[in-house]
Amino acid sequence: MPTKARAAILYAFHEPFRIEEIELADPKEGEVLVEMHSCGICHSDISMIDGSVPEGGLPIVLGHEGAGVVRALGPGVKSLQIGDHVLPMPMAECGQCESCRSRKSNFCDNGMQSLFGNVAMDGTIRATVGGRPLHQMCGVGAFSTHTVVHEAKVAKIDSGAPMEGACLVSCAVSTGVGAVIYDAKVPPGATVAVFGLGAIGLNIVQGARLAGAKTIIGLDRIADREGPGRALGLTHFVQVGPGVDAVEEIRKISPGGVEFAFDAVGGSAVARQALSSTRIGCGLAVLIGVPDGADLNVSYYDIIMGRRLMGSMLGGVHPLADAPRLVELERAGKLNFDTLITHRLPFERINEGIELLRAGKAIRTVLSF
Ligand code: CU
Repeated sequence: MPTKARAAILYAFHEPFRIEEIELADPKEGEVLVEMHSCGICHSDISMIDGSVPEGGLPIVLGHEGAGVVRALGPGVKSLQIGDHVLPMPMAECGQCESCRSRKSNFCDNGMQSLFGNVAMDGTIRATVGGRPLHQMCGVGAFSTHTVVHEAKVAKIDSGAPMEGACLVSCAVSTGVGAVIYDAKVPPGATVAVFGLGAIGLNIVQGARLAGAKTIIGLDRIADREGPGRALGLTHFVQVGPGVDAVEEIRKISPGGVEFAFDAVGGSAVARQALSSTRIGCGLAVLIGVPDGADLNVSYYDIIMGRRLMGSMLGGVHPLADAPRLVELERAGKLNFDTLITHRLPFERINEGIELLRAGKAIRTVLSF
């Protein structure tokens, strides 16, 4: 029996979602049905609405930062049981492929099609609306009362963890904290700059504090980001804007530049600034923001002088193994999710949540189902 669900559907780029009834196929081999409890709204959802991420495929159910409960199991599911509290994650951890076995990267070979094609792990579609096939963002489509996801993308978390905060681990917390501890491997005493203090940037800040960085410089256009930034570990705040040279400001605070710079804004201009703000000989710039379509065009000298550049997706987090640990770090008081949640809305008001994020008013709006 297919499951009926209510989902926020994007029929055309730049348009508001329409909330409609959809049909979800029964979970296939290795898949589970998840009832959503909470879901955050992320900038990459807006990138999809604006059509700036090429692999769209409309209509689509967006959302990739959810938490919920397993309600049904397909055949052969090994890692989950009905009633488990879970995070359906954008990336997979199949445990079998070269990336998963070697643990050299979190780009599970078997999860790439689902991540970028917005389909199930086997490349097919699980949802329909009025008989019409529906894509689901990253194979999750979390803006829906229910979804069907492969167990390789479903992290089991402790049932005592409040799901309103835990949902943020599905994207923002993993991406930010993970970039610091798993990808950049920031050591104690390091100097760090963070470009952009949205949900990702603020998680980089708290990741850097967790890692024991001694200087954490945050840069944002919005003055109001200083407060949450400092609450999560910023030691310095720079309000950027016309006439402010971000690289100069960083060098004033940390002479010679920082050891680690994180670009949580995106676009080639900020990426170049991040690289230039790092120290000669040992600096590392980590690119996390959404590309703007332009080539990077970094200075040859910046690289020759020993500065390095890396990209990070979902913070290098192996979803099944690492995401539950991040949830536990918050419960142990080492991470903070509450400061990130500026707004709460019922799922039906999702379009208001999108506008709050666009306007820079919200860090995270969490939808409840
Ligand atoms: Cu996201």
